[in-house]
Amino acid sequence: MAPMSTARTGTAARDEKSARSGPAESPFVRACRRQSVPYTPVWFMRQAGRSLPEYRRVRDGIGMLESCRRPDLVAEITLQPIRRYGVDAAILYSDIMVPLVAAGVDLDIVPGTGPVVAEPVRTIEDVARIRRIDPGDVSFVDEAVRLLVAELGATPLIGFAGAPFTLASYLVEGGPSRTHVRTKALMHGAPDVWHALLTRLAEITLAFLRVQVGAGVSAVQLFDSWAGALSEADYRRFVLPHSAAVLGGLADTGVPRIHFGVGTAELLGALGEAGADVVGVDWRTPLDAATVRIGPDKAVQGNLDPAVLFAPWPVVEAEVRRILVEGRAAPGHVFNLGHGVLPETDPDVLTRVVALVHEASAG
Ligand code: CP3
Repeated sequence: MAPMSTARTGTAARDEKSARSGPAESPFVRACRRQSVPYTPVWFMRQAGRSLPEYRRVRDGIGMLESCRRPDLVAEITLQPIRRYGVDAAILYSDIMVPLVAAGVDLDIVPGTGPVVAEPVRTIEDVARIRRIDPGDVSFVDEAVRLLVAELGATPLIGFAGAPFTLASYLVEGGPSRTHVRTKALMHGAPDVWHALLTRLAEITLAFLRVQVGAGVSAVQLFDSWAGALSEADYRRFVLPHSAAVLGGLADTGVPRIHFGVGTAELLGALGEAGADVVGVDWRTPLDAATVRIGPDKAVQGNLDPAVLFAPWPVVEAEVRRILVEGRAAPGHVFNLGHGVLPETDPDVLTRVVALVHEASAG
């Protein structure tokens, strides 16, 4: 709200102007808020990373977790897809495991495998070893976000974190898992340990996201990438309250909250109920059908199959146009892939997708 004053100072006038043309008024943030947009905004999960030669160059000889702790490098990598693609939002370069390292968990990110945890979490004593985090534990993220917000100007920056269930899955399994068998065994076999673990992970996640919001991100995305492994009943009982604690804990900040998972056709309504403004939809559910499940008071994000980017261009074009049409059923649509950019993706195809989304949705 504009400050009450009789004589308008130069600073106040400038603040008002930048509020009108800044990230809060960008097509991306407007679409998240279900406001009118001049064209459908687009960004890609994992737009910064493995598929870009300029990324591979700056990461040469630097470990994944180390790269996340260097604000100059984080800023550079985050900006690479902005320069190349002309996407409507940047997403902070980091990893969902970063706040767990700050919480004292001994883990590594093994190239070609993913996160590997030295001592898997299975007992209440294991849970007790995971500390809460203070903003000072992730000051490098605060610094990187501030650098980026200054650099990005009117382009919004998306902050993110892993959701309690997806983080728990890595901690309990000790690494990536197809079946999540130990995670489910703990959930059902020791619900008290499970809830203690997810409560602590929700505290860490909320603290981590509040640092990012405090430093100036324009939206946040909660990645519950593996939630689709659960039935709706188990999701509601064992996971939703904890994700709701994170999303609800951000409500006072007013930043749009995107809630994403893969294979979540049966969970779309629940993902929205957990407190999202935008629900991310993978490629399995058309956006118009997803909107029926989510309800009319939330925007959607998605949902081009990342594998379709390897098909001939006319196929890609037809899919993009179909998704734009289906997205009109929702009160707000942010174009994206249904999951992250695959490493072998040709970046030039993504450049063409951005141009097509903008052109085909304008007017
Ligand atoms: O593009 C890259 O993969 C390069 C850097 C990198 C990231 N994470 C960045 C990242 C690497 C090597 C990782 C390791 C990692 N962490 C993997 C990949 C293992 C592999 O080699 O294939 C995985 C699966 C994780 C765990 C993780 N990180 C998950 C489940 C998610 C949520 C998103 C998803 O893909 O489901 C992340 C988030 C993540 N990791 C992001 C980035 C830049 C943020 C979000 C984004 O840009 O969309």
